[in-house]
Amino acid sequence: PPLSNMQNAYDFEQVAKNILPKDAWAYYSCGSDDEISMRENHYAYQRVYFRPRICVDVKEIDTSTTLLGSETSVPFYVTATALAKLGHPEGECSIARGAGKEGVIQMISTLSSMSLKEIADARIPGATQWFQLYINEDRKIAKEMVKEAENLGMKAIFITVDAPSLGNREKDKRMKFVNDTDVDLGDTVDRDSGASKALSSFIDCSVNWKDIKQVKSWTHLPVLIKGVQTVEDVIEAYDAGCQGVVLSNHGGRQLDTSPPPIELLAETVPVMKKLNKLRPDFEILIDGGVKRGTDVLKAVAIGGKDVRVGVGIGRPFLYANSGYGEEGVRKLIQLLKDELVMDMRLLGVTKIEDLTSRHVDTRRLIGR
Ligand code: FNR
Repeated sequence: PPLSNMQNAYDFEQVAKNILPKDAWAYYSCGSDDEISMRENHYAYQRVYFRPRICVDVKEIDTSTTLLGSETSVPFYVTATALAKLGHPEGECSIARGAGKEGVIQMISTLSSMSLKEIADARIPGATQWFQLYINEDRKIAKEMVKEAENLGMKAIFITVDAPSLGNREKDKRMKFVNDTDVDLGDTVDRDSGASKALSSFIDCSVNWKDIKQVKSWTHLPVLIKGVQTVEDVIEAYDAGCQGVVLSNHGGRQLDTSPPPIELLAETVPVMKKLNKLRPDFEILIDGGVKRGTDVLKAVAIGGKDVRVGVGIGRPFLYANSGYGEEGVRKLIQLLKDELVMDMRLLGVTKIEDLTSRHVDTRRLIGR
């Protein structure tokens, strides 16, 4: 269908399902075990209600804000997903151009299907890119990756810690992973049981808090932890001097029935506030199940005046890129931006910074 038919994130998912090779669709769309976390990531947003304020002058709406000090046209970003080339020949580069042209930040995966240099070269001047790091067993390689990211102008390092081994992704396991996408996976990978298994040889399961401190010592960039799933670990990350966390269960692809990030966010903010462990340079990002402008506003509002919250979106961008490349990525951003503008108007908020915890009712979410 023509791009102009696309009305929302779900439309791109339908297109991707129809056009992607079976193995790519399985790899992108699957969750682990019974896919309960994957579904709940999304459904949990439905348990948050708005508290819209009326008679606010909402003539001028501004969706822009900053994340980790970088300007962004919206409070959401494209999060790191592996192997964009499975869906589109321009892979991560068309995502870089699409996001950059719309003023949206891109997080780039260690397991991208193109080199970091290529993706950095595709960056639109003035755009922001972040680097997602899987700590390699060989710490020299990990350090080189961080240095390269720094040299290529990445603005933050996100260490993913929720995948010491890859989750049980059965749809994906049923596929043989045929590497015909120029993805350089080396000779050591196991290609006989899906893309996930093939990638898992890149990840070291011994990673612990000492490694986090070591990565911090390698770079002046902000270091954040991606894949935090309890309040305890938000506190650990804060105490370790990280600039923030990503509350995430990897899109429901790792431990099934791990908590939906929006629920964890609602639990986390009051605790961190009570412990006086919030500082302006500690940001809480969140990803998983986000499909709508309303989802984004709910997360940012829960952070409210206490902590800056940014929202990562994964699969919907892979789907938009698979179907339409750069133009698809741009269209999805524009649709979400349009939703944000309308939703902010209806909520009675003109600027992202004006969202407060009083704009949402989280009683059904955390049962206070
Ligand atoms: C991911 N994710 C991921 N995370 C990461 O840190 N490094 C990676 O290489 C990948 N790869 C990856 C591939 C695919 C196909 C998916 C769907 C996800 C997890 C990703 O960053 C994010 O946490 C989720 O995708 C968010 O959920 P939604 O938006 O996809 O529902």
